[in-house]
Amino acid sequence: TKVFVSRDSAARSVGADEVAERITSLAPDVTVVRNGSRGMLWLEPLVEVETAAGRVAYGPVAPEDVDGLVAGGLLAGSTDLGAYLGVTEELPWMQRQQRLTFARVGVTDPLSIEDYVAHGGLAGLRKALAMTPGDVVESVVGSGLRGRGGAGFPTGIKWRTVLGAESELKFVCCNADEGDSGTFADRMLIEGDPFTLIEGMTIAAYAVGASEGYVYLRSEYPDAVATLRAAIDLAREAGWLGADVLGSGFSFDLYVRVGAGAYICGEETSMLESLEGKRGMVRAKPPIPALQGLFGRPTVVNNVLSLATVPIILKDGPEAYAAYGTGRSLGTSVFQLGGNVARGGIVETAFGITLGELVNDFGGGTSSGRPVRAVQVGGPLGAYLPVDQFDLPMDYEAFAAAGAMVGHGGIVIFDDTVDMASMARFAFEFCAAESCGKCTPCRVGAVRGVETIDRIVAGDNRKQNLVVLDDLCDLMTDGSLCAMGGLTPLPVRSAVRHFGEDFAK
Ligand code: NAI
Ligand code: SF4
Repeated sequence: TKVFVSRDSAARSVGADEVAERITSLAPDVTVVRNGSRGMLWLEPLVEVETAAGRVAYGPVAPEDVDGLVAGGLLAGSTDLGAYLGVTEELPWMQRQQRLTFARVGVTDPLSIEDYVAHGGLAGLRKALAMTPGDVVESVVGSGLRGRGGAGFPTGIKWRTVLGAESELKFVCCNADEGDSGTFADRMLIEGDPFTLIEGMTIAAYAVGASEGYVYLRSEYPDAVATLRAAIDLAREAGWLGADVLGSGFSFDLYVRVGAGAYICGEETSMLESLEGKRGMVRAKPPIPALQGLFGRPTVVNNVLSLATVPIILKDGPEAYAAYGTGRSLGTSVFQLGGNVARGGIVETAFGITLGELVNDFGGGTSSGRPVRAVQVGGPLGAYLPVDQFDLPMDYEAFAAAGAMVGHGGIVIFDDTVDMASMARFAFEFCAAESCGKCTPCRVGAVRGVETIDRIVAGDNRKQNLVVLDDLCDLMTDGSLCAMGGLTPLPVRSAVRHFGEDFAK
């Protein structure tokens, strides 16, 4: 019998290690596979048992429940137990998704090369190595893949710039400094299927002619650091990395660098400074990193999910990927539901699903049971949206037209007890704390923003101070050097626009 208990840090935080240990001690003959998480985080620790009907799921299983469940027939896949949920793949939460980037997460053992290859791993890289680098780049262009870190710049176009840049040395850097509150997909991918990221980075390197890669991984993710380092060692031993990638004659090697806790190091030029061993300060663009990036060399900088999606694009072809989605937002995206939500976790679906479907159908509303009042989409720099915008499709352009952004796909839910004036204040506070200090609109503007909101809420010249706030937001949007100061007005303005009553109590 094979039993699956996740090793994802979200599952471990609620007792998955103890559950796995207890199963092993009660049934030493059973193989307990520590897989990634299926993304149904409210059901963790989830225990899956392999049966003739497929894998069946039980959850949440607390460590103290294990003895009773095993005695009741858990290891035989009993359907009579209270924690029994059904065949995992047939659960409505799973069935309504289209898992491409996350196809193996929660399915395979993250550190088993055998499992990886048996589930379609390496097919994309093998195909790429048989193509010219230019054709690989054009496949990624044709897939419509856009940067999943938040800005949505077409990945293939970025690669085309790096391929066309003359240099003996080029780099591929993966931005895994997932600093947005309410986002965790990068972490779950790395913990649950690290070989996909390695494969995607190797394809990127081959496509643009890079020989070295770095993953900039945040220190708050120790499990992801350990898993990725172990996976890179295994890949190197298996000959996928190093002097002769899969016998192709192409050389590429990959290293992990751990951040030190600064949000701004997720901004790509700051990340490059940090990788070079300097303080994480934003560089002016141009020059863009694609032309002068790490150590001044042409550099691909992509988010974890962008790179991890490349193998399936190469494997199944760009048309298959571009068949999902809507408008110019093609393929699937990995949305993350968090905050005050009944069913938090990962939902990978084609672009075009509405915000309301994600929050209500997948998320099941709030965990407090109170009505949803606001959701923040796209991290701490994203807009707050009210329930009457729930028919907005998840689509970069539709969100931009609504004064919001899809960003990295994090959706944080708030119930009707939220005070939106304090959320707007928090946006400025956050900016003041995380600003790198290089430009005045952000460094000074964030502090002035906190003061102005305090005056508005106190009723001190409210009307005049709302005008000041508006001016300040214009100035920060237009005058900031990077998205930190440039996007802070988004949550502030959306809070004032949609929840103005909270500023006049
Ligand atoms: P950006 O629009 O300046 O650039 C997007 C990307 O395209 C960059 O990599 C840039 O170098 C590249 N690029 C632009 N023109 C190019 C060209 N002609 N050729 C090749 N490459 C080109 O946006 P930025 O400042 O990189 O990112 C802002 C976004 O980051 C925000 O929209 C926000 O959603 C997101 N964000 C994500 C966070 C996370 O934790 N994932 C945290 C904070 C912000
Ligand atoms: Fe630094 Fe803020 Fe200016 Fe960005 S906007 S460069 S974080 S001071």
